[in-house]
Amino acid sequence: MKRFEEKVAIITGGAQGIGEATTRRLANEGAMTAILDINLEKAQAVAEEILSQEGKKSIAVRMDITDSQEVKRAVREVEETFGRVDVLINNVGLEAQFYFVILFFDFLIFLYFRMEVVT
Ligand SMILES: NC(=O)c1ccc[n+]([C@@H]2O[C@H](COP(=O)([O-])OP(=O)(O)OC[C@H]3O[C@@H](n4cnc5c(N)ncnc54)[C@H](O)[C@@H]3O)[C@@H](O)[C@H]2O)c1
Repeated sequence: MKRFEEKVAIITGGAQGIGEATTRRLANEGAMTAILDINLEKAQAVAEEILSQEGKKSIAVRMDITDSQEVKRAVREVEETFGRVDVLINNVGLEAQFYFVILFFDFLIFLYFRMEVVT
């Protein structure tokens, strides 16, 4: 029996890149997959390929992860289709540039307070 046989996995950002590779691997390990992605067209293409190559059911759901209502609706759709969710791969995250902007401002604030203490 495969490791993820009969498990239901949600993968955010599964239409390409790391998320797509993770989705394909989970399907190869026996999982039924739900690709939640802002790019529905690409997500559908991956889901169709998984069904034909792995013989495992895969669905594509359009979802913008920054919109909590869309996230709830998308998860409901997965539960309605598969009956449950066993695995969550939350792959969509902060852009690296954005992260560095936050670090930069953090650093400025740190310097400001340090100067206040010294002077
Ligand atoms: N590739 C790297 O070297 C690397 C390194 C560090 C961190 N990461 C992080 O890992 C994650 C995946 O990286 P990747 O290179 O596979 O990215 P990618 O750009 O190739 O794929 C991202 C996927 O997420 C989807 N997506 C983008 N915004 C979305 C949104 N608001 N709602 C739903 N789906 C959305 C895109 O349509 C795409 O399918 C990213 O969060 C990235 O910042 C990647």
